[in-house]
Amino acid sequence: MRCDTIWKDARLATLAGPGLGSIENGVVAASDGCIVYAGPEADAPAMDAAQIILCQGRWITPGLIDCHTHIVHEGNRAVEWEMRLAGASYEDIARAGGGIVSTMNATRSASEEQLIETALPRVDALIAEGVTSIEIKSGYGLDLESEIRMLRAARRIGVERSVNIATTFLGAHSLPPEFAGNSDAYIDLICTEWLPEIASHGLADAVDAFCDGIGFSRAQTEKVFQAAARMGLPVKLHAEQLSNLHGAALAAEYGALSADHLEYLDDSGIAAMKAAGTVATLLPGAFYFTRESRLPPIGGLRDAAVPIALATDCNPGTSPLTSLLLTMNMGATLFHLTVEECIAGVTRNAARALGRLKDIGTLEAGKRCDLAIWDIESPAELVYRMGYNPLHARVWSGQ
Ligand code: NIG
Ligand code: FE
Repeated sequence: MRCDTIWKDARLATLAGPGLGSIENGVVAASDGCIVYAGPEADAPAMDAAQIILCQGRWITPGLIDCHTHIVHEGNRAVEWEMRLAGASYEDIARAGGGIVSTMNATRSASEEQLIETALPRVDALIAEGVTSIEIKSGYGLDLESEIRMLRAARRIGVERSVNIATTFLGAHSLPPEFAGNSDAYIDLICTEWLPEIASHGLADAVDAFCDGIGFSRAQTEKVFQAAARMGLPVKLHAEQLSNLHGAALAAEYGALSADHLEYLDDSGIAAMKAAGTVATLLPGAFYFTRESRLPPIGGLRDAAVPIALATDCNPGTSPLTSLLLTMNMGATLFHLTVEECIAGVTRNAARALGRLKDIGTLEAGKRCDLAIWDIESPAELVYRMGYNPLHARVWSGQ
């Protein structure tokens, strides 16, 4: 078999199958940007390649996937954070017109170029840790033009950098002030005008909402899901972050790819997610940064075999975090996840949360050749360190 590149003398965590799929003396071979073989050297077919890279026993994992970010946004909320340090709550600040709305103001006044320019250093921080796919949400424009600008900026990041971008329309993130007291009218507008316009330009791969007391009700969220279904777009949900509105169960009813946050998820939500195959995307950065005390129901999710993903939730309000490695460490330390769960959470299960398990997330023939090559002795080191980056090399699309 003729291929472009072969990585030899490697240890692989393929993530194919339920565990890490560890292989000593492993080989990955790529052709036209896709994996043609990943497995033990002993079982490899006869292959020759233009380029053979000897990995000297380094570990290769699938390129990491950050499946929940708000990485395109303007400005920061360090001042609000100082208010929170002094005792104000996230909800108090939001109700007083700060929070998402303050980032909305900054984002509305930024051009597409500016949004890209301020997001790229954050994107580069993820890329430097072996991230090869990033989900990016809108939701700080909250008018049609600004939401479109955010989504275009997100798509453009995938042109400016060697990274796969999945975009999510999050018009139902917060009520813009011009609709104060009129949230149903806002939801109607999103559903009947904005979403069809955004979908017709292919700007969104999925649709999300914030189902919460300071976000939108269950009934309003359901309208968004129905509109997404009319457009043939999959849904996700910010659910059970600050309270339990039973959003995850609603999301599951609509076949959601994922329900995210989930600190206040209960058993009925877990059962609904299990039945629908909805991924539980946990966001320990937001848990940490908001000093949440309620843990997501990890044991229940584990017992029900609901797939668990981990993501940064990179955003200026609740998680100004641009490290997926540190996210894994928090997943283990704060959420009691195992090493295997953490690594699966930023590879296989993150791919599933994006509806893209067919082409990313594991080292298997036929998938994109997105790899992270690590200077580590064991996979646990990826989760164990805090603020140290053992990436040796990153491969995107075979390059
Ligand atoms: O995922 N909960 C809603 N959305 C974000 C926070 C957005 C913000 O505060 O700017 C989150 O936590
Ligand atoms: Fe979020």
